[in-house]
Amino acid sequence: MKNVLEAPFMAEMIRTTTNMYAHGWDERNGGNISMLLDEEEVKKYLSIPAIVRVIPTGFEAPELDGKYFLVTGTGKYFKNVQYDPKKNLGIVRLANGGTEAEVLWGFSDGGKFTSEFPAHMMSHIARMKVDSENRVVMHCHPTNLLAMTYVHSLDEKAFTRTLWQMCTECIVVFPDGVNVLPWMLCGTNEIGEATAKKMETARLVVWAQHGIYGAGRDLDETFGLIETAEKAAEIWLKIAHLPILNTITDDQMHLLEKRFGVKAREGYLS
Ligand code: 13P
Ligand code: ZN
Repeated sequence: MKNVLEAPFMAEMIRTTTNMYAHGWDERNGGNISMLLDEEEVKKYLSIPAIVRVIPTGFEAPELDGKYFLVTGTGKYFKNVQYDPKKNLGIVRLANGGTEAEVLWGFSDGGKFTSEFPAHMMSHIARMKVDSENRVVMHCHPTNLLAMTYVHSLDEKAFTRTLWQMCTECIVVFPDGVNVLPWMLCGTNEIGEATAKKMETARLVVWAQHGIYGAGRDLDETFGLIETAEKAAEIWLKIAHLPILNTITDDQMHLLEKRFGVKAREGYLS
């Protein structure tokens, strides 16, 4: 049996949490990540079934029955993942229609998966229906996007168009735009369901006055998605109070669509 700490998925998770902390997106225990793992991959590192303990999830997710996830722990700091992955991360397998999570590895201090597990699992279900290769759901508190939700309209089309106009490549990276949830109590099934609904039409969902969710095929892609939106929000905050002399026009956005083979969200460009 190989050492799970040397698994490529583990190395990538450690690199990503460390990098996200360095970006200032994950103060204290802020943020959480879940990544779908292949059973065959997990079996190289863990003898299955080797259930350490079983934790109720508090929701149903039959679509995810038997699926394996590497997930960050609740209350754990991203900056510490690199020093003690076994305490700060866990590998779980969902069972009994998703109502239970079998801990196979990690959460070694008796901890459990992130309090945002409902939003993660429900978002996985929603994104898999759109893209069968989606594997990652990532949540964090990027400073500029969060700041933007205090002073910009939360209308999804308006929010998306502002971000698209801030960097040429935004529309290429997230042509489906950014969906937005008004402030809601976090860590609940309700915000999980609302997030998953928003995930049906976009890979980015802003939680007003809280942070953002991103979904993608791997950690790098999902990180890059959030990174691009956050960069755009930073530029907007630098210029929003100044007289705007130039922008990226809708005609130019259409040129980008053609050049990069992407299709902007229906009805978002004139
Ligand atoms: P957890 O520590 O439970 O992952 O919560 C962090 C967070 O960002 C809540 O939205
Ligand atoms: Zn959060």
